[in-house]
Amino acid sequence: MLKIYNYEGGLETVMMDEASLKTSGLTCPNCGSGKIKIIRGEISSTGSVQECSCCICQHGFIVSTCLTKKKQDDESMQDEVVMDAMKALLTRRSIRRFKSDKIKNSDIRDILEAGMNAPSAGNEQPWHFIVIDDPFILKEIPSFHKHAEMLKEAPLAILVCGDMDLVKHGDMWIQDCSAATENILLAIHSKHLGGVWLGVYPREDRVNGLKNLLKLPDNIVPFSLVAAGYPAERKTYKSRYDESRVHYNKW
Ligand SMILES: Cc1cc2nc3c(=O)[nH]c(=O)nc-3n(C[C@H](O)[C@H](O)[C@H](O)COP(=O)(O)O)c2cc1C
Repeated sequence: MLKIYNYEGGLETVMMDEASLKTSGLTCPNCGSGKIKIIRGEISSTGSVQECSCCICQHGFIVSTCLTKKKQDDESMQDEVVMDAMKALLTRRSIRRFKSDKIKNSDIRDILEAGMNAPSAGNEQPWHFIVIDDPFILKEIPSFHKHAEMLKEAPLAILVCGDMDLVKHGDMWIQDCSAATENILLAIHSKHLGGVWLGVYPREDRVNGLKNLLKLPDNIVPFSLVAAGYPAERKTYKSRYDESRVHYNKW
């Protein structure tokens, strides 16, 4: 039995039983139980054959798992709550349309923990996180951040801030906060939620807008906003691996 996961904004499952696999004439290179053809999120019996590699398809769109090889039953696959790290980082996309449902507090806590577990220069952890779920505040932000319109429908945003009083390694705080932001995005995606990074620092209008709106103390610099919620749009993904950007030992 082969089970195909499509993470375009949510979990979809397509089942192929062994009989169908046999009649399709396909075989899996890993376990021999079936080889699948994957074309933009659909199994097809025509077109170029891509790998059933029990991992993420080379060309994106599909995360496939061969149950024979992994010995996982249907239920445990269906109940997958959190993706593994490679799946999460290769399939993450910016989500800008959200349902109105609120994110559970336990999920918000996990997402914040992911942010706080980011690497930082000398382990300085120079961050604070402001969880914004007040719709009046969320709706105000696009008045000074023109690329943040989605906050009018997002149930939540997390503002990643740098605390200048905690900084020990100069401008490295910018990289620390970037790492925290990416961790937050990945944690959001791993829970099948959606999110998008909204750049704040160093744009003065956005920094000052947030400082005023949220009454931030002088030592706190708003760095990035992450809008989050249950996705109301589906996005495809594909590998961006580009050999021409890879260099070994020298340029
Ligand atoms: C520093 C930074 C600032 C960004 N600012 C915005 C923004 O203001 N509004 C927005 O909708 N997306 C913003 N994005 C998201 C990018 O547009 C998005 O990551 C990029 O187009 C790649 O798409 P993907 O995230 O789906 O892979 C930002 C991303 C980064 C890293």
